[in-house]
Amino acid sequence: MKPPLHIATPWPRSPEAPAVLSIERLSKRFETNGAGSVSVLRDISFTARRGEMICILGRSGCGKSTLLNILAGFIAPSSGTVRLNGQPVSRPGPDRCVVFQDDALFPWLTVRENIAFGLKKRPMDRARKKSEVERFLSLVGLTDFGDYFPHEISGGMKQRVSIARVLILQPEVLLMDEPFAALDAQTREEMQNLLLTLWEKFKHTILFVTHDVGEAVLMADRILLFEKDPGGIREDIKIDLPRPREKDERRFFACYRKTMSIINRL
Ligand SMILES: Nc1ncnc2c1ncn2[C@@H]1O[C@H](COP(=O)(O)OP(=O)(O)OP(=O)(O)O)[C@@H](O)[C@H]1O
Ligand SMILES: [Mg+2]
Repeated sequence: MKPPLHIATPWPRSPEAPAVLSIERLSKRFETNGAGSVSVLRDISFTARRGEMICILGRSGCGKSTLLNILAGFIAPSSGTVRLNGQPVSRPGPDRCVVFQDDALFPWLTVRENIAFGLKKRPMDRARKKSEVERFLSLVGLTDFGDYFPHEISGGMKQRVSIARVLILQPEVLLMDEPFAALDAQTREEMQNLLLTLWEKFKHTILFVTHDVGEAVLMADRILLFEKDPGGIREDIKIDLPRPREKDERRFFACYRKTMSIINRL
């Protein structure tokens, strides 16, 4: 059996951890070209605590990306509020970074320059910026690929760059929209382990959208199960498996089956 790559440090993601993101009675309607409007999210409320890993599962079209776009400040909700550390969120900010399914790298910049990009306006001297970029290159295992362009590296490597370029900004919240969905099974597993390692190190609060129940059970402290038409939280499932988790362990499988049975009841 392969040793787990992510470290085992248990640390308290307790119910007492402070709330980082508070979402209250959030709803979203989209106007449809003269044909009225469609309700996509209705009355969503939940709290993400510091350092929590929350996975969001739900049928295609139930509004998962819409929710992440609202939390990122890219679009406004129709009603309800999003608060980050108690302050209302109404626009994008470096405290919330997004990693999408498709990499959003600048094709004309090298891997190193892509990772450095967000630091441009940070008040930090050049030497410090340079060492931070090398640190994050190394953390995602790309030290030897800093001078490559995005078209010269694989999909998995691109997602490593995508993760490094947001982590270097030290966001409080990481919003991840099916970040590993386009990767083969083996690369996906490597990326899951990498993310778990980085999460243990930096203790971000992460909202992670996935369609893969196994991925959610592997990663999550909690799974929010969304229903559709309109999208809302149907179940809030606590995953209290100890870490590191192994997919071939009996208790992992039991948890997977329990989660599947809840999904199948919807
Ligand atoms: N700008 C928009 N204008 C109108 N309708 C929209 C807009 N953006 C999203 N929608 C609609 O909102 C619904 C939810 O879309 P969303 O992309 O959030 O779903 P999702 O849960 O992320 O789906 P998937 O799992 O396929 O990624 C869909 O019916 C979509 O057509
Ligand atoms: Mg989506």
